[in-house]
Amino acid sequence: GNVFTHDPGFTSTSACESEITFIDGDKGELLYRGYPIDQLAEKSHYLEVCFLLLYGHLPTAQELEDFEMRVTRHTMVHEQITKFFSGYRRDAHPMATMVGVVGALSAFYHDSLDINDPWQREVAAVRMIAKVPTITAMAYKYSIGQPFMYPKNSLDYASNFLYMCFAVPAEDYEVNPILARAMDRIFTLHADHEQNASTSTVRLAGSSGANPFACIAAGIACLWGPAHGGANQASLEMLREIGTVDRIPEYIARAKDKDDPFRLMGFGHRVYKNFDPRAKVMKESADEVLGLLGIENNETLKVAKELERIALEDEYFVSKKLYPNVDFYSGIILEAMGFPTSMFTPIFALSRTVGWISQWREMLADPAQKIGRPRQLYTGATRRDYIDVEDR
Ligand code: CMC
Repeated sequence: GNVFTHDPGFTSTSACESEITFIDGDKGELLYRGYPIDQLAEKSHYLEVCFLLLYGHLPTAQELEDFEMRVTRHTMVHEQITKFFSGYRRDAHPMATMVGVVGALSAFYHDSLDINDPWQREVAAVRMIAKVPTITAMAYKYSIGQPFMYPKNSLDYASNFLYMCFAVPAEDYEVNPILARAMDRIFTLHADHEQNASTSTVRLAGSSGANPFACIAAGIACLWGPAHGGANQASLEMLREIGTVDRIPEYIARAKDKDDPFRLMGFGHRVYKNFDPRAKVMKESADEVLGLLGIENNETLKVAKELERIALEDEYFVSKKLYPNVDFYSGIILEAMGFPTSMFTPIFALSRTVGWISQWREMLADPAQKIGRPRQLYTGATRRDYIDVEDR
Protein backbone atom coordinates (compact mmCIF):
# COMPACT_ATOMS: atom_id res chain seq x y z
CA GLY A 1 0.00 0.00 0.00
CA ASN A 2 0.89 3.67 0.18
CA VAL A 3 3.69 4.72 2.49
CA PHE A 4 2.50 7.44 4.83
CA THR A 5 3.94 9.55 7.62
CA HIS A 6 2.60 9.52 11.16
CA ASP A 7 2.19 13.12 12.31
CA PRO A 8 -0.26 13.63 15.20
CA GLY A 9 -1.30 17.28 15.43
CA PHE A 10 -0.04 17.81 11.85
CA THR A 11 3.07 19.57 13.11
CA SER A 12 4.95 18.91 9.87
CA THR A 13 2.34 18.04 7.27
CA SER A 14 1.30 20.37 4.48
CA ALA A 15 -2.28 19.66 3.42
CA CYS A 16 -2.63 22.04 0.49
CA GLU A 17 -1.07 24.71 -1.69
CA SER A 18 -2.34 28.18 -0.85
CA GLU A 19 -1.72 31.70 -2.14
CA ILE A 20 -3.62 33.47 0.61
CA THR A 21 -1.64 33.88 3.83
CA PHE A 22 2.05 33.53 4.65
CA ILE A 23 3.51 33.12 8.15
CA ASP A 24 7.20 33.12 9.02
CA GLY A 25 7.01 31.87 12.59
CA ASP A 26 10.69 32.46 13.41
CA LYS A 27 10.64 36.05 12.22
CA GLY A 28 7.13 36.74 13.54
CA GLU A 29 5.89 37.79 10.12
CA LEU A 30 2.34 37.56 8.80
CA LEU A 31 1.37 38.52 5.24
CA TYR A 32 -2.09 38.50 3.65
CA ARG A 33 -1.54 38.06 -0.11
CA GLY A 34 1.96 39.47 0.43
CA TYR A 35 0.95 42.55 2.43
CA PRO A 36 2.28 42.80 6.03
CA ILE A 37 -0.43 42.63 8.67
CA ASP A 38 0.76 45.78 10.47
CA GLN A 39 0.44 47.86 7.28
CA LEU A 40 -3.05 46.50 6.65
CA ALA A 41 -4.09 47.10 10.27
CA GLU A 42 -2.87 50.68 10.10
CA LYS A 43 -3.80 51.76 6.57
CA SER A 44 -6.52 49.47 5.28
CA HIS A 45 -9.89 48.46 6.67
CA TYR A 46 -11.70 45.18 7.06
CA LEU A 47 -13.85 45.06 3.92
CA GLU A 48 -10.87 45.99 1.77
CA VAL A 49 -8.93 43.18 3.49
CA CYS A 50 -11.86 40.83 2.78
CA PHE A 51 -11.62 41.72 -0.91
CA LEU A 52 -7.86 41.19 -0.82
CA LEU A 53 -8.18 37.76 0.81
CA LEU A 54 -10.95 36.65 -1.55
CA TYR A 55 -9.60 37.96 -4.84
CA GLY A 56 -5.85 38.25 -4.32
CA HIS A 57 -5.30 41.94 -5.05
CA LEU A 58 -6.11 45.30 -3.47
CA PRO A 59 -9.31 46.64 -5.04
CA THR A 60 -9.51 49.75 -7.18
CA ALA A 61 -11.81 52.44 -5.80
CA GLN A 62 -14.58 51.17 -8.09
CA GLU A 63 -14.05 47.51 -7.16
CA LEU A 64 -14.14 48.42 -3.48
CA GLU A 65 -17.34 50.40 -3.85
CA ASP A 66 -19.01 47.53 -5.73
CA PHE A 67 -17.84 44.97 -3.18
CA GLU A 68 -19.00 47.05 -0.22
CA MET A 69 -22.35 47.51 -1.89
CA ARG A 70 -22.71 43.78 -2.52
CA VAL A 71 -21.85 42.89 1.08
CA THR A 72 -24.16 45.57 2.43
CA ARG A 73 -27.08 44.31 0.35
CA HIS A 74 -26.87 40.92 2.06
CA THR A 75 -26.70 41.97 5.72
CA MET A 76 -30.27 40.94 6.57
CA VAL A 77 -31.06 37.36 7.54
CA HIS A 78 -34.31 35.66 6.66
CA GLU A 79 -36.89 36.57 9.29
CA GLN A 80 -37.34 32.88 10.12
CA ILE A 81 -33.72 32.81 11.32
CA THR A 82 -34.74 35.00 14.25
CA LYS A 83 -36.86 32.08 15.50
CA PHE A 84 -33.91 29.74 15.88
CA PHE A 85 -32.62 31.69 18.84
CA SER A 86 -35.66 31.11 21.00
CA GLY A 87 -34.92 27.38 21.09
CA TYR A 88 -31.81 28.06 23.14
CA ARG A 89 -31.66 28.47 26.89
CA ARG A 90 -31.37 32.12 27.79
CA ASP A 91 -27.92 31.59 29.28
CA ALA A 92 -26.56 29.59 26.32
CA HIS A 93 -23.01 30.56 25.36
CA PRO A 94 -23.24 32.71 22.20
CA MET A 95 -20.77 30.33 20.48
CA ALA A 96 -23.34 27.55 20.93
CA THR A 97 -26.00 29.73 19.34
CA MET A 98 -23.66 30.66 16.50
CA VAL A 99 -22.73 27.07 15.66
CA GLY A 100 -26.44 26.30 15.36
CA VAL A 101 -27.71 29.41 13.62
CA VAL A 102 -24.87 29.70 11.08
CA GLY A 103 -25.32 26.00 10.36
CA ALA A 104 -29.04 26.66 9.90
CA LEU A 105 -28.25 29.08 7.07
CA SER A 106 -27.39 25.98 5.02
CA ALA A 107 -31.09 25.13 4.98
CA PHE A 108 -31.89 28.53 3.51
CA TYR A 109 -29.29 28.23 0.74
CA HIS A 110 -29.05 24.58 -0.12
CA ASP A 111 -31.21 23.32 -2.96
CA SER A 112 -30.51 26.43 -4.98
CA LEU A 113 -26.74 26.34 -4.36
CA ASP A 114 -24.49 24.61 -6.88
CA ILE A 115 -20.97 24.72 -5.46
CA ASN A 116 -19.53 23.63 -8.82
CA ASP A 117 -20.52 27.01 -10.20
CA PRO A 118 -17.83 29.61 -9.37
CA TRP A 119 -20.36 32.45 -9.40
CA GLN A 120 -22.55 30.70 -6.84
CA ARG A 121 -19.52 30.09 -4.63
CA GLU A 122 -18.86 33.78 -4.90
CA VAL A 123 -22.39 34.72 -3.85
CA ALA A 124 -22.18 32.29 -0.92
CA ALA A 125 -18.94 33.99 0.19
CA VAL A 126 -20.47 37.46 0.09
CA ARG A 127 -23.57 36.24 1.92
CA MET A 128 -21.46 34.74 4.69
CA ILE A 129 -19.39 37.88 5.20
CA ALA A 130 -22.54 39.99 5.24
CA LYS A 131 -24.72 37.83 7.50
CA VAL A 132 -22.32 36.60 10.16
CA PRO A 133 -22.12 40.01 11.95
CA THR A 134 -25.91 40.13 12.03
CA ILE A 135 -26.08 36.65 13.55
CA THR A 136 -23.24 37.41 16.01
CA ALA A 137 -25.03 40.54 17.21
CA MET A 138 -28.28 38.60 17.49
CA ALA A 139 -26.51 35.96 19.60
CA TYR A 140 -25.40 38.78 21.91
CA LYS A 141 -28.80 40.44 22.09
CA TYR A 142 -30.43 37.09 22.83
CA SER A 143 -27.95 36.43 25.64
CA ILE A 144 -28.85 39.71 27.35
CA GLY A 145 -32.57 39.55 26.64
CA GLN A 146 -32.77 42.61 24.41
CA PRO A 147 -34.63 42.82 21.09
CA PHE A 148 -32.63 42.17 17.92
CA MET A 149 -31.53 45.27 16.03
CA TYR A 150 -31.77 45.04 12.25
CA PRO A 151 -28.65 46.03 10.33
CA LYS A 152 -28.29 49.69 9.49
CA ASN A 153 -26.82 49.69 6.01
CA SER A 154 -25.81 53.36 6.03
CA LEU A 155 -23.07 52.42 8.51
CA ASP A 156 -19.72 50.87 7.69
CA TYR A 157 -19.16 47.20 8.54
CA ALA A 158 -17.62 47.63 12.02
CA SER A 159 -19.95 50.48 13.03
CA ASN A 160 -22.95 48.46 11.92
CA PHE A 161 -21.82 45.56 14.10
CA LEU A 162 -21.43 47.83 17.15
CA TYR A 163 -24.80 49.36 16.38
CA MET A 164 -26.52 45.96 16.21
CA CYS A 165 -24.89 44.99 19.52
CA PHE A 166 -25.30 48.16 21.56
CA ALA A 167 -28.23 50.13 20.16
CA VAL A 168 -31.69 49.65 21.67
CA PRO A 169 -34.95 50.61 19.95
CA ALA A 170 -35.95 53.07 22.67
CA GLU A 171 -32.87 55.29 22.42
CA ASP A 172 -30.69 57.05 19.88
CA TYR A 173 -27.31 55.47 19.47
CA GLU A 174 -24.22 57.12 18.00
CA VAL A 175 -21.36 54.77 17.19
CA ASN A 176 -18.13 56.00 18.76
CA PRO A 177 -15.66 56.29 15.83
CA ILE A 178 -12.71 55.37 18.07
CA LEU A 179 -14.40 52.12 18.99
CA ALA A 180 -15.47 51.46 15.40
CA ARG A 181 -11.87 51.86 14.23
CA ALA A 182 -10.61 49.54 16.99
CA MET A 183 -13.33 47.01 16.15
CA ASP A 184 -12.39 47.11 12.48
CA ARG A 185 -8.75 46.52 13.40
CA ILE A 186 -9.64 43.50 15.54
CA PHE A 187 -11.57 42.09 12.56
CA THR A 188 -8.57 42.70 10.28
CA LEU A 189 -6.05 41.11 12.64
CA HIS A 190 -8.14 37.93 12.88
CA ALA A 191 -9.19 37.73 9.22
CA ASP A 192 -7.02 34.79 8.19
CA HIS A 193 -4.18 32.66 9.53
CA GLU A 194 -3.46 29.94 6.96
CA GLN A 195 -4.09 26.31 7.92
CA ASN A 196 -4.97 26.65 11.64
CA ALA A 197 -7.32 24.09 13.23
CA SER A 198 -10.61 25.79 12.33
CA THR A 199 -9.55 26.60 8.76
CA SER A 200 -8.37 23.03 8.27
CA THR A 201 -11.75 21.93 9.62
CA VAL A 202 -13.57 24.09 7.07
CA ARG A 203 -11.39 22.73 4.27
CA LEU A 204 -11.88 19.13 5.39
CA ALA A 205 -15.65 19.57 5.71
CA GLY A 206 -15.76 21.34 2.35
CA SER A 207 -13.62 18.71 0.63
CA SER A 208 -16.60 16.35 0.55
CA GLY A 209 -18.65 18.90 -1.35
CA ALA A 210 -20.73 19.87 1.70
CA ASN A 211 -22.80 23.04 1.90
CA PRO A 212 -20.51 26.02 2.66
CA PHE A 213 -22.68 27.42 5.45
CA ALA A 214 -22.52 24.03 7.18
CA CYS A 215 -18.72 24.01 6.66
CA ILE A 216 -18.39 27.41 8.34
CA ALA A 217 -20.48 26.12 11.26
CA ALA A 218 -17.91 23.31 11.60
CA GLY A 219 -15.15 25.94 11.65
CA ILE A 220 -16.96 27.86 14.39
CA ALA A 221 -17.22 24.68 16.46
CA CYS A 222 -13.49 24.07 16.15
CA LEU A 223 -12.62 27.67 16.97
CA TRP A 224 -14.52 27.50 20.24
CA GLY A 225 -11.88 25.52 22.16
CA PRO A 226 -9.57 27.31 24.63
CA ALA A 227 -6.45 26.13 22.76
CA HIS A 228 -7.72 28.07 19.71
CA GLY A 229 -10.22 30.95 19.50
CA GLY A 230 -11.53 30.36 23.01
CA ALA A 231 -8.19 31.65 24.30
CA ASN A 232 -9.31 35.30 24.13
CA GLN A 233 -12.08 34.67 26.67
CA ALA A 234 -9.80 32.45 28.75
CA SER A 235 -7.04 35.07 28.63
CA LEU A 236 -9.14 37.93 29.98
CA GLU A 237 -10.66 35.69 32.63
CA MET A 238 -7.15 34.73 33.68
CA LEU A 239 -6.02 38.37 33.84
CA ARG A 240 -9.06 39.22 35.95
CA GLU A 241 -8.41 36.26 38.23
CA ILE A 242 -4.82 37.37 38.74
CA GLY A 243 -6.31 40.76 39.51
CA THR A 244 -3.26 42.61 40.83
CA VAL A 245 0.36 42.81 39.77
CA ASP A 246 1.66 41.27 43.01
CA ARG A 247 -0.10 37.99 42.26
CA ILE A 248 1.65 37.47 38.90
CA PRO A 249 4.61 35.40 40.16
CA GLU A 250 2.22 32.81 41.60
CA TYR A 251 0.62 32.32 38.17
CA ILE A 252 3.97 32.24 36.38
CA ALA A 253 5.05 29.50 38.77
CA ARG A 254 1.87 27.55 38.08
CA ALA A 255 2.32 27.85 34.30
CA LYS A 256 5.83 26.38 34.65
CA ASP A 257 4.74 23.53 36.95
CA LYS A 258 4.35 20.37 34.86
CA ASP A 259 2.01 18.85 37.47
CA ASP A 260 -0.36 21.79 37.10
CA PRO A 261 -2.47 21.84 33.90
CA PHE A 262 -2.63 25.65 34.06
CA ARG A 263 -1.15 27.50 31.07
CA LEU A 264 -0.74 31.20 30.50
CA MET A 265 -3.66 31.85 28.21
CA GLY A 266 -2.84 34.08 25.27
CA PHE A 267 0.75 32.81 25.34
CA GLY A 268 2.49 30.44 22.94
CA HIS A 269 1.75 29.42 19.39
CA ARG A 270 2.27 26.41 17.18
CA VAL A 271 3.87 28.46 14.41
CA TYR A 272 5.17 31.68 16.00
CA LYS A 273 8.42 31.18 17.88
CA ASN A 274 8.79 34.94 18.15
CA PHE A 275 6.39 37.83 18.80
CA ASP A 276 3.02 37.26 17.18
CA PRO A 277 2.87 40.37 14.94
CA ARG A 278 -0.85 40.61 15.64
CA ALA A 279 -0.20 40.83 19.39
CA LYS A 280 2.10 43.82 18.80
CA VAL A 281 -0.60 45.73 16.93
CA MET A 282 -3.21 44.64 19.47
CA LYS A 283 -1.09 45.94 22.36
CA GLU A 284 -0.67 49.35 20.68
CA SER A 285 -4.37 49.42 19.93
CA ALA A 286 -5.22 48.61 23.56
CA ASP A 287 -3.07 51.53 24.71
CA GLU A 288 -4.65 53.84 22.16
CA VAL A 289 -8.27 52.85 22.81
CA LEU A 290 -8.01 52.91 26.59
CA GLY A 291 -6.14 56.23 26.38
CA LEU A 292 -8.80 57.79 24.17
CA LEU A 293 -11.51 56.49 26.48
CA GLY A 294 -9.63 57.90 29.46
CA ILE A 295 -9.28 54.51 31.18
CA GLU A 296 -5.57 53.91 30.63
CA ASN A 297 -5.12 53.06 34.31
CA ASN A 298 -7.18 49.95 33.76
CA GLU A 299 -5.90 47.31 36.19
CA THR A 300 -6.26 44.43 33.71
CA LEU A 301 -4.03 46.19 31.18
CA LYS A 302 -1.45 46.78 33.91
CA VAL A 303 -1.52 43.10 34.87
CA ALA A 304 -1.22 42.06 31.20
CA LYS A 305 1.81 44.25 30.55
CA GLU A 306 3.56 43.22 33.71
CA LEU A 307 2.80 39.55 33.06
CA GLU A 308 4.26 39.89 29.56
CA ARG A 309 7.36 41.61 30.93
CA ILE A 310 8.00 38.98 33.60
CA ALA A 311 7.32 36.04 31.25
CA LEU A 312 9.64 37.38 28.57
CA GLU A 313 12.48 37.51 31.11
CA ASP A 314 11.79 34.06 32.47
CA GLU A 315 14.03 31.19 31.36
CA TYR A 316 11.04 28.80 30.91
CA PHE A 317 9.20 31.06 28.45
CA VAL A 318 12.40 32.21 26.73
CA SER A 319 13.71 28.70 26.12
CA LYS A 320 10.34 27.43 24.86
CA LYS A 321 9.92 30.57 22.73
CA LEU A 322 6.54 31.41 24.25
CA TYR A 323 5.39 34.93 23.38
CA PRO A 324 2.04 36.70 23.70
CA ASN A 325 -0.30 35.77 20.84
CA VAL A 326 -3.21 37.62 19.23
CA ASP A 327 -5.57 36.64 22.04
CA PHE A 328 -3.53 38.20 24.85
CA TYR A 329 -4.53 41.86 24.41
CA SER A 330 -7.70 41.65 22.30
CA GLY A 331 -9.93 40.96 25.33
CA ILE A 332 -8.84 44.16 27.04
CA ILE A 333 -10.05 46.19 24.06
CA LEU A 334 -13.28 44.22 23.74
CA GLU A 335 -13.96 44.66 27.44
CA ALA A 336 -13.40 48.42 27.14
CA MET A 337 -15.97 48.45 24.32
CA GLY A 338 -18.52 46.89 26.65
CA PHE A 339 -18.52 43.27 25.49
CA PRO A 340 -18.83 40.48 28.05
CA THR A 341 -16.12 37.79 27.81
CA SER A 342 -18.59 35.32 26.29
CA MET A 343 -18.67 37.50 23.15
CA PHE A 344 -14.92 37.45 22.55
CA THR A 345 -14.79 34.14 20.68
CA PRO A 346 -17.92 34.92 18.60
CA ILE A 347 -16.18 38.12 17.48
CA PHE A 348 -13.14 36.05 16.50
CA ALA A 349 -15.48 33.76 14.51
CA LEU A 350 -17.05 36.75 12.78
CA SER A 351 -13.61 38.07 11.80
CA ARG A 352 -12.28 34.69 10.63
CA THR A 353 -15.30 33.95 8.43
CA VAL A 354 -13.65 35.66 5.47
CA GLY A 355 -10.52 33.54 5.92
CA TRP A 356 -12.54 30.34 6.10
CA ILE A 357 -14.60 31.18 3.04
CA SER A 358 -11.54 32.36 1.07
CA GLN A 359 -9.77 29.10 1.80
CA TRP A 360 -12.90 27.14 0.90
CA ARG A 361 -13.14 28.94 -2.45
CA GLU A 362 -9.45 28.43 -3.14
CA MET A 363 -9.76 24.72 -2.37
CA LEU A 364 -12.73 24.15 -4.68
CA ALA A 365 -11.03 26.04 -7.51
CA ASP A 366 -7.90 23.88 -7.18
CA PRO A 367 -7.77 21.14 -9.84
CA ALA A 368 -5.81 18.96 -7.38
CA GLN A 369 -8.67 19.11 -4.87
CA LYS A 370 -9.87 15.80 -3.49
CA ILE A 371 -11.64 14.68 -0.36
CA GLY A 372 -9.48 15.01 2.77
CA ARG A 373 -8.92 11.60 4.24
CA PRO A 374 -6.10 11.17 6.81
CA ARG A 375 -4.77 7.69 7.60
CA GLN A 376 -3.88 6.25 11.01
CA LEU A 377 -1.52 3.95 12.83
CA TYR A 378 -3.78 1.18 14.08
CA THR A 379 -2.92 0.15 17.67
CA GLY A 380 -5.97 -1.97 18.54
CA ALA A 381 -6.57 -5.73 18.80
CA THR A 382 -5.44 -8.05 16.01
CA ARG A 383 -8.02 -10.26 14.30
CA ARG A 384 -10.08 -12.34 16.76
CA ASP A 385 -13.22 -14.46 16.51
CA TYR A 386 -16.60 -13.47 17.90
CA ILE A 387 -17.66 -15.31 21.09
CA ASP A 388 -21.33 -15.81 21.94
CA VAL A 389 -22.45 -13.82 24.97
CA GLU A 390 -23.13 -16.94 27.13
CA ASP A 391 -19.57 -18.18 26.52
CA ARG A 392 -17.77 -14.96 27.60
N1 CMC B 1 1.87 28.36 29.20
C1 CMC B 1 2.80 27.52 29.72
N2 CMC B 1 3.47 26.59 29.01
C2 CMC B 1 3.19 26.51 27.70
C3 CMC B 1 2.24 27.35 27.07
C4 CMC B 1 1.57 28.30 27.87
N3 CMC B 1 0.66 29.11 27.35
N4 CMC B 1 2.14 27.04 25.77
C5 CMC B 1 3.01 26.04 25.55
N5 CMC B 1 3.65 25.71 26.72
C6 CMC B 1 4.71 24.69 26.88
C7 CMC B 1 4.11 23.30 26.88
O1 CMC B 1 3.81 22.88 28.20
C8 CMC B 1 5.20 22.49 26.25
O2 CMC B 1 6.19 22.25 27.22
P1 CMC B 1 7.04 20.86 27.22
O3 CMC B 1 7.76 20.85 25.90
O4 CMC B 1 7.93 20.99 28.40
O5 CMC B 1 6.03 19.76 27.33
C9 CMC B 1 5.82 23.43 25.23
O6 CMC B 1 5.53 24.76 25.73
C10 CMC B 1 5.22 23.30 23.83
O7 CMC B 1 3.81 23.37 23.92
P2 CMC B 1 2.81 22.47 23.05
O8 CMC B 1 1.48 22.42 23.72
O9 CMC B 1 3.47 21.17 22.70
O10 CMC B 1 2.74 23.36 21.72
P3 CMC B 1 1.59 23.37 20.65
O11 CMC B 1 2.18 23.93 19.43
O12 CMC B 1 0.93 22.04 20.56
O13 CMC B 1 0.50 24.37 21.29
C11 CMC B 1 -0.78 26.28 21.84
C12 CMC B 1 0.30 25.67 20.92
C13 CMC B 1 -1.19 27.63 21.29
C14 CMC B 1 -2.01 25.38 21.83
C15 CMC B 1 -0.20 26.42 23.27
O14 CMC B 1 0.89 27.31 23.27
C16 CMC B 1 -1.26 26.87 24.29
O15 CMC B 1 -1.99 26.02 24.82
N6 CMC B 1 -1.37 28.22 24.57
C17 CMC B 1 -2.39 28.74 25.43
C18 CMC B 1 -3.69 28.87 24.66
C19 CMC B 1 -3.67 30.00 23.65
O16 CMC B 1 -3.28 31.12 23.96
N7 CMC B 1 -4.14 29.72 22.42
C20 CMC B 1 -4.27 30.72 21.38
C21 CMC B 1 -3.38 30.44 20.19
S1 CMC B 1 -3.25 31.83 19.05
C22 CMC B 1 -4.80 32.19 18.40
C23 CMC B 1 -5.68 31.05 18.10
O17 CMC B 1 -5.29 30.04 17.52
O18 CMC B 1 -6.87 31.15 18.43
